[in-house]
Amino acid sequence: MKVIKKIDDLKVIDKKRPIALIPTMGNLHEGHLSLVKQSINLQLSPLVTIFVNPLQFGPNEDFETYPRTIKQDKESLEKQKCEFLFLPEKSEILEGIKKLKAPYSNFLCAKKRPGHFDGVITIVNRFFELIKPEYCFFGQKDFQQQLIIRNHLKEKRLSTKLVVGETVRDGNGLALSSRNNYLTQIEKKDASIIYRYLKEIADQLRQVRSDFSKDLSVHALMICQEYKNKFEDKGFKIDYLEIINAKNLEKSKKDDTDLLIAIAAHYKGVRLIDNLPCDLSFS
Ligand code: PAF
Repeated sequence: MKVIKKIDDLKVIDKKRPIALIPTMGNLHEGHLSLVKQSINLQLSPLVTIFVNPLQFGPNEDFETYPRTIKQDKESLEKQKCEFLFLPEKSEILEGIKKLKAPYSNFLCAKKRPGHFDGVITIVNRFFELIKPEYCFFGQKDFQQQLIIRNHLKEKRLSTKLVVGETVRDGNGLALSSRNNYLTQIEKKDASIIYRYLKEIADQLRQVRSDFSKDLSVHALMICQEYKNKFEDKGFKIDYLEIINAKNLEKSKKDDTDLLIAIAAHYKGVRLIDNLPCDLSFS
């Protein structure tokens, strides 16, 4: 694996195969590595970036303590046969950076973390400009993030194609995340109730849809309230639990079929996010 630290050295990349940009903040887990695998299976050259991006952290968030595990990350990437690792220096990558505003600022995580996605799109755009990848890979777990990237690529008419990798879960169903490292084994097991409840909500939505006399949007609100209470009983502090239209993140309407159940909740002081697509077109 070629490790690149200087922007100038990106020029020496040998583009034998199309480049798949996989931006990360490190502390890699199977979710990240599955994107590397997927890109290799598609005959692409994975280029992973590791950069803990200060622009996307709020003043009271965990920028300072965010897990930095470069040595382990390098080993995992070598094992996966990743081709390139870009480890930019903060000063060089942020110098003169063009700050961008992200859309969907009134939805989900953007409402709870003002400026977060502005920071994300600013840095991802910087990578797009520097690397000009043929493909970029993002995870489904960060649903709003991938939607913002999709929107950016379209709006700026960039030729980079977006590939979204499925959420990778541990044996109990907890979506993998670097922040899971803040939890003990038992807490992780308890937190896996998130996925169980998301699946239960999806089942309830399918039942509602099968009864045409019922208004989905009304029931969606009732179901969310029921599950917010259930989560709170289990010690979660809910940021949001919403059933939304997966295309535009708006609250679900009566006839919507392409839905997403999305949650962000604090458990034992750790902010966890997850989501489950729920396609009702055949219900
Ligand atoms: O998903 C992440 O880890 C970050 O938001 C990203 C895309 C690497 C930008 O810093």
